[in-house]
Amino acid sequence: MSNNKFINAVISEEQGDESLPILRGTMGPEAVDIRALYSRYDLLAFDPGFRSTASCKSSITYVDGDKGVLLYRGYPIEELAEKAHYLEVAYLLMFGELPEDDELNVMRESINQYGILHEQVMSFYRGFRRDAHPMAVMVGVVGALSAFYHDHLNIGDRSQRIQAAIRLVAKMPMIAATCYTYNIGRPHRYPVNKLDYSSNFLQMMFGSPAEEYQVDPVLARAMDKILILHADHEQNASTSTVRIAASSGANPFACISTGIASLWGPAHGGANEAVLRMLEEIGDVKNIPKAIARAKDKDDSYRLMGFGHRVYKNFDPRAKVIQKSAKEVLEHLQLDDPLLDIAMRLEEIALEDEYFIERKLYPNVDFYSGILLRAMGFPDSMFTAIFALARTSGWVSHWLELQEDSTHGIDRPRQLYVGKPLRHFPKDR
Ligand code: ACO
Repeated sequence: MSNNKFINAVISEEQGDESLPILRGTMGPEAVDIRALYSRYDLLAFDPGFRSTASCKSSITYVDGDKGVLLYRGYPIEELAEKAHYLEVAYLLMFGELPEDDELNVMRESINQYGILHEQVMSFYRGFRRDAHPMAVMVGVVGALSAFYHDHLNIGDRSQRIQAAIRLVAKMPMIAATCYTYNIGRPHRYPVNKLDYSSNFLQMMFGSPAEEYQVDPVLARAMDKILILHADHEQNASTSTVRIAASSGANPFACISTGIASLWGPAHGGANEAVLRMLEEIGDVKNIPKAIARAKDKDDSYRLMGFGHRVYKNFDPRAKVIQKSAKEVLEHLQLDDPLLDIAMRLEEIALEDEYFIERKLYPNVDFYSGILLRAMGFPDSMFTAIFALARTSGWVSHWLELQEDSTHGIDRPRQLYVGKPLRHFPKDR
């Protein structure tokens, strides 16, 4: 049955033959425009979790889960990870085109100008327990930035919107790195203008005040790739959260802190930590068949972490890039991580297993990212914070897009009410 016929069948049975329009994007499935559903037919659409709902129009990122395709502004993620730098990608996401040299220079200068946190922000850090989770600190500190940039911020003005967006991208490396240095009791460091974005993050994370930090170009490039791969993924939970918060006209720093809160959940940003725990638990290649058998057992809640994806029913294209990068970094650092061997063998065995083939379960981006981040020296607790650092360019791009969409008002989902019908307060009570 074609889309039109389906909608006609549903709607027109008792309501005449009026149909709901079908909208076509540049690529991907068509969408039924149900905006008139309630006013015209007194009907709501029921779609908890938004699995069949396009919540907005967007021209930033395209995902084809069946084919394993991810495009930022039309460019395949593999090409961007190979050829571009994170700031170019951030510019692309925000403004729609790759920057010319002069545009990239202006962006770099702005990042340098805004990269240092206001010194008063440091007192917020000191308010946290030193062992607080970096994501808890990030939610607080980014939200608190709204207190610094609110009174004079007019989000109706495009140049001020761009300034706020660049400020956020600029400050995130120092915010994330300071979460870590505060936690281990080392003095925080500032960005250094001569370094690129990723190198700066590494020097703020791992540099010591006592000596000059030597950037390892292989690690800086790997860092850049991680940031590029995680920069955006269309209307995922955290991006949708940012958009919903932003739809009321809220302060952009407060909006991004809602995205960080959503990302923190284990079902979203925390899976790579779970993959490491699983690989450690497996411990040896010879134990893989046991783990696979457990993952297939319906009476066991055990799942292969880093396998499967809500949208990708094929290889997550980011997983291939991360796997290659993890091998390069381990080789460069002359590290022999047995977890990588277990992961690669696990992938091989699972991909030949009927259970995983039938259900289209492939490795996702998290399968190798934990191994890579750990090899680079990051503690597990920083994994999601790094995801948040990367995703900030995506979040601000969606925030900018939403502010410029005059047809999109405040988000206000409805519900299927299943509570008590009307009843009255007892007279004798
Ligand atoms: N291991 C074993 N079986 C699995 C796995 C897995 N990792 N994932 C899905 N399945 C099975 C389910 O048991 C189910 O089997 P059934 O049809 O016999 O009942 C079938 O595959 C479909 O599973 P769903 O949960 O409906 O698949 P969905 O696409 O909704 O879930 C999800 C996707 C949540 C990511 C799931 O694959 C999973 O839990 N994976 C492990 C956790 C993980 O890696 N999360 C990171 C996702 S990537 C990211 O967020 C950046």
